[in-house]
Amino acid sequence: MEENHDKWWDKWDKAAAGFDFINGGVELRFGEEKAEWFSQATGTTLLVAIGTGLDIPYFKDDQHIIGLDISMKMLEKARAKEVGHKRVDLVRADVQELGFADNSIDTVVTSCTFCSVPDPVLGLKELRRVLKPGGRLLMFEHVRSDIFWMGPMMDLLTKVSRRFGPDLNRRTKENVLKAGFKLTREVNLYLDMVKLFEAIKEI
Ligand SMILES: C[S@@+](CC[C@H](N)C(=O)[O-])C[C@H]1O[C@@H](n2cnc3c(N)ncnc32)[C@H](O)[C@@H]1O
Repeated sequence: MEENHDKWWDKWDKAAAGFDFINGGVELRFGEEKAEWFSQATGTTLLVAIGTGLDIPYFKDDQHIIGLDISMKMLEKARAKEVGHKRVDLVRADVQELGFADNSIDTVVTSCTFCSVPDPVLGLKELRRVLKPGGRLLMFEHVRSDIFWMGPMMDLLTKVSRRFGPDLNRRTKENVLKAGFKLTREVNLYLDMVKLFEAIKEI
C-alpha cells in the first residue's frame, strides 16, 4: 500500500477523533435494527470498515470478528472498544485489495461502508472472492434515493460530503449485483435511503 502525503484516506484519519460524537445519532436511531441484523453473522466474520468500532456491541459475544479498516486512527479507536468476551482481530487493509485467501470467510458484514470505498464494485468483488461459496453478505447502508427531487439533491450534496467523508449518492444495490452476488433480501429502514441488504455468493 503506497504511503505518501496525500493519501485518499487522510479524511478518515481526520474524522476519527469526532466520529463517535457525530455518529451517535445513527446508533440511537438504528441500533436495534443493526443488532438484530448483525447477530445473524456466523463463523469467521469480516466486518468491513469497522471505523471506531461502534458496531462491535451488535455481535454475539462469542462471534469471531475480523475488523478491517483503511484508517489507522479509526482502528486505534476501535481497539479501545474490544470489550467483553468478543473475539475481535483488527487489521489495517483496503477492501479493494484484500490479502485473505479465496473462499476463506463465512460471513461479511458492512455498515456504512460502501458510501466510502472509492471503487465500490472492486471492493465488493474482493468480498465475493474471499467469501466461502454459500456465504452471506449482510449490509447496513445508506444509498441514493429514487424519490424524484431527493436523488438529484444527494448528487449535489455529494460534491461537498466526499471531501470530508462519505458519498451520499451510491447505488449500492446495483453495485452488489455488478459484483456478482445474488441479492436475497432488501429492507427499507428509512424511506428508500437507509437499507439492509442480504446477498449470497452462490455455490
Ligand atoms: C462512514 S465510516 C463507517 C464506519 C463504521 N462502519 C460505522 O458505521 O461506524 C466509513 C469507514 O470506511 C473506511 N474505509 C473507506 N474506504 C475504505 C477501504 N477502501 N478499505 C477499508 N476501509 C475503508 C473509513 O476509514 C471509515 O472508517
